[in-house]
Amino acid sequence: MVATAAELPADLEAGLRRLKLSAIRKISPELLVTAKTQRWSPEEFLRTLLEAEIASRDLSNARNRMKAAAFPVTKTIDEFDVGASSIPRPTFEYLASLEWIRAKENPVLIGPAGTGKSHALIALGHSAVENGFRVRYFTAAELVETLYRGLADNSVGRVIESILKADVILVDEIGFAPLDHTGAQLLFRFVAAAYERRALGIASHWPFEEWGRFLPEHTTAVSLLDRLLHHSIIVVTEGESFRMKESKARRTALKEVISTP
Ligand SMILES: Nc1ncnc2c1ncn2[C@@H]1O[C@H](COP(=O)(O)OP(=O)(O)OP(=O)(O)O)[C@@H](O)[C@H]1O
Ligand SMILES: [Mg+2]
Repeated sequence: MVATAAELPADLEAGLRRLKLSAIRKISPELLVTAKTQRWSPEEFLRTLLEAEIASRDLSNARNRMKAAAFPVTKTIDEFDVGASSIPRPTFEYLASLEWIRAKENPVLIGPAGTGKSHALIALGHSAVENGFRVRYFTAAELVETLYRGLADNSVGRVIESILKADVILVDEIGFAPLDHTGAQLLFRFVAAAYERRALGIASHWPFEEWGRFLPEHTTAVSLLDRLLHHSIIVVTEGESFRMKESKARRTALKEVISTP
């Protein structure tokens, strides 16, 4: 006679449900049969249950962290062609090691459009999530908007603290749009609160000497940069836009297709 997986007794089912041990609950009926027929030791049985629960929790935590990171697209480190970028390989390798998150350093990527700033930032964030870190991605406009909302009910401090629950906060596209006085103050408050507590990953078109273009007050710009750059890894991305390169390649390919009789 072949033993079939019976339902768990109601008290066990209820206990596992109450303790939210859903992976154990799911595999127990079948595993009980296997363990009995194959004469598993009690340790082996317990270990298999625990491993299944841990694996399932790790997976669901990683999924939740990935969702909470709010990446606009998926980009990975493997997809980043370091050879085709101006980022020196040792710098990229250091960034990919994620050591800067533990050290609360700030990678600051500066370079023109299409040179891989967002790709690198998101890819590092993606890898950080996979390695157990909590990550939050914003464009500078989204971040400032979020902080602005806190002004209405005097909760800016709380909003900042809740953002700083993440281990690393990525702020992309700083300087795309100029900030008004309040926006600049809010950004400064955020950077000051994160200083030496969290790692910030930053990307901007503008070299630092041009940050006055979007930070209207000189003293705010200086104080913000001073904190941001104290423990920073400055990464300059140069060269032709990847988007241009790709569209040129597409045009060339298209021409070849069209001209082929
Ligand atoms: N080194 C690279 N390897 C692979 N793909 C790259 C690389 N650099 C850029 N890309 C790709 O080129 C496109 C543009 O890159 P990305 O969006 O990162 O540019 P950016 O520097 O953030 O530009 P912008 O300042 O306009 O936001 C993306 O699809 C990105 O995946
Ligand atoms: Mg970008």
